[in-house]
Amino acid sequence: MKILVTGGAGYIGSHTCVELLNADYEVVVVDNLYNSSEKSIDRIKEITGKDLTFYEADILDADKMNEIFANEKVDCVIHFAGLKAVGESVAKPLEYYKNNINGTLVLCEAMRNNGCKNIIFSSSATVYGDPAFIPITEQCPKGTPTNPYGWTKHMIEQILTDFHTADPEWNVILLRYFNPIGAHKSGLIGEDPKGIPNNLLPYVAQVAIGKLPCLGVFGDDYDTHDGTGVRDYIHVVDLANGHVKAINKIKENPGVKVYNLGTGNGYSVLDVVKAFSKACGHDVPYQIKPRRPGDIATCYSDATLAKEELGWEAQYGIDEMCEDSWRWQSMNPNGYN
Ligand code: NAD
Ligand code: UD1
Repeated sequence: MKILVTGGAGYIGSHTCVELLNADYEVVVVDNLYNSSEKSIDRIKEITGKDLTFYEADILDADKMNEIFANEKVDCVIHFAGLKAVGESVAKPLEYYKNNINGTLVLCEAMRNNGCKNIIFSSSATVYGDPAFIPITEQCPKGTPTNPYGWTKHMIEQILTDFHTADPEWNVILLRYFNPIGAHKSGLIGEDPKGIPNNLLPYVAQVAIGKLPCLGVFGDDYDTHDGTGVRDYIHVVDLANGHVKAINKIKENPGVKVYNLGTGNGYSVLDVVKAFSKACGHDVPYQIKPRRPGDIATCYSDATLAKEELGWEAQYGIDEMCEDSWRWQSMNPNGYN
């Protein structure tokens, strides 16, 4: 089977390409390198010893997308390409809606024109908003996103569902990721944020290596075991394997399916700092700061459905996530540069 991966040079996409090649799929990547480096493509080949086809192209470019689909005879798309910085999306809603929503529409039109109606989409636990219950099952109602990024996930889920309603030949798997962290064991691919990181793990890793002086912990007065925010961190390689399992599911023509990809365990900010300190062998300095607007106290998944229906379950724990994240950071202090 040939799988087209949009955003395949990015953090989650590159790890997914490795697992797809390991499982003997043919892989075609489309990425405009807006938030990634072509070096990740070379590293995917180095890790797997296999080749893939790379198009440096924008999914908003309808002519190019039609040409690629006409050339490649794709069986299934895994759609990662998108902008993902929550704070930036508040400042630049037009850019976020255009890239994420228009990009998805252009992609799907090229798919339909060329008879490919199987898509696996990168959604997020952000669609649950402040969740109605914890642990979060797929039955938990979608909440109200607090930012344009979250709305793009919310809306694209609906758009893809409507495609299936209109034409039942479409198979759509919506994967709601919890908090992906870690890196490939080789230390050759990992998360390479541009500028000062917004997310916890890249920030902790840059403090640990001395690029940033001190972590700000956003709030220690939440109703959690130590007062800091609790999240369901998941190893990016586990997440990548979830996509390989989703392809097996899509072969059954399942219609529309929604799966949480999480571990089912919640760790606090201070739990993560402790695990990371153990991994890097020294303390990671931190300071308690006020809460970050829009944050919730606790968010973790019930991962039962993915286990039952995809036969997928996370394998790695928080210590391995931090060890692998540290290996990537210390082997590549400036990311791919
Ligand atoms: P990333 O930025 O590393 O990867 C996204 C890739 O898409 C980048 O390589 C970028 O260059 C490419 N891209 C963006 N716009 C494009 C366009 N118009 N045409 C072609 N390529 C384009 O991000 P990631 O962390 O790997 O996330 C992948 C997907 O997973 C995103 O859709 C993101 O919203 C979603 N997601 C991520 C997280 C997370 O914590 N990282 C959590 C939930 C969901
Ligand atoms: C954030 C996004 C979410 C997105 C996800 C993955 C917000 C409100 N939510 O989730 O939509 O899908 O990233 O990209 O931005 N923390 C600190 N100090 C820091 C950074 C984070 O204490 O410097 C804390 C946060 O308060 C939170 C936890 O660490 O409790 C995790 O934060 P983060 O990595 O940003 O992920 P989320 O907020 O869960």
